[in-house]
Amino acid sequence: MIYFDNSATTKPFPEVVDSFVKVSSEFFGNPSSIHRLGVEAESLLAQARKQIGELLQVNPREVYFTSGGTESNNLAIKGTALMYRNRGKHIITSAVEHASVREAFQQLKELGFRITVVPVDTEGRVSISDIEDAICHDTILVSIMHVNNEVGTIQPIKEIGNMLKGYSKILFHVDYVQGVGKVALDIQRYHIDLCSISAHKFHGLKGTGVLVVREGVQISPLFSGGNQEWKLRSGTENVAGAVSMAKALRLTLQSYKTKLSQISEVQSYLLKELQALEDIVIHTPSKGQAPHIINFSVKGFRGEVFVHALEEKGLIVSTTSACSSKKKAISHTLLAMNVSKEVAESAIRMSLSYENTLEEASKAVSIIQTTATELREVMH
Ligand SMILES: Cc1ncc(COP(=O)(O)O)c(C=O)c1O
Repeated sequence: MIYFDNSATTKPFPEVVDSFVKVSSEFFGNPSSIHRLGVEAESLLAQARKQIGELLQVNPREVYFTSGGTESNNLAIKGTALMYRNRGKHIITSAVEHASVREAFQQLKELGFRITVVPVDTEGRVSISDIEDAICHDTILVSIMHVNNEVGTIQPIKEIGNMLKGYSKILFHVDYVQGVGKVALDIQRYHIDLCSISAHKFHGLKGTGVLVVREGVQISPLFSGGNQEWKLRSGTENVAGAVSMAKALRLTLQSYKTKLSQISEVQSYLLKELQALEDIVIHTPSKGQAPHIINFSVKGFRGEVFVHALEEKGLIVSTTSACSSKKKAISHTLLAMNVSKEVAESAIRMSLSYENTLEEASKAVSIIQTTATELREVMH
């Protein structure tokens, strides 16, 4: 099997699973308990927070553990809206965000907030001036993703952060879920106030994530309860999940140092070879893209038909994003990039990890080629 669906989820590193099992079985205390078992668990949690803080180059006190990207995005967006609803009712995002951002905005719209959804160009990139033009006297939040999960476009986060520096009352949230370990992001220098990450995208476990909340930034909690995580995220902490996430992040950032050229080489190879095939349109930009995502359409076939045909030959890919691929929704990202509905319906995403090789890429191309030929023969 060739697994090219790493943007949906990655296979956990064995070391990550081992540390989850070890912490779960040996250090099962509740970090809030005052006895020895609780203190041990609390110390492991603090250690994980310190490590993650160091790896993300933020203060450990700015690291809040959550259940993953969806929760971090909801907490950042709704937490800001709740906190500052009396100051302003206007929030800004882009047309290519993940459902957890898009739907959070829609929910806030129903609650009376005004939302501006800035467009993207044909490469899926927002323009800084569109964002600045959208700012009103009562804007409280700008939420823009770092790497698009469907096509891999990198947004100009540094420039947006620089621009927003001039608006002290607007919080800047970045969905960093797809970028972690693949495209560096300097949270502090880019003036990011809130930043979401999710461990299962970098070989950690599902149900673990972080929201970085810069010191001095205040947002409202969404859960009421025992006031864990400095009152921002109540609920008994997933200590084993946090420890294993720290390990996954450390190992992934090691790969970033040593294997970035390898993954980029695999991506360039795939882009070049696919471009040469008949009736294929590539949607991933060839400049300013993350090194792990390749999105393309094989004209004439619905994406899901092609995905299943590839799976039969041992190549695992997806249609668009994992959450919309089962609903058979047309990619809103591709439509926002001005791709026609017909071509967007044929879209396929391949997403790599540092474990993938050129040999796998070469096999994948030949599987795609034979599958297209076979399906064409069946249809004609
Ligand atoms: C860009 C982006 N944001 C958020 C999420 C949601 O993360 P999680 O699966 O941890 O809830 C995903 C997952 O696909 C994603 O790709």
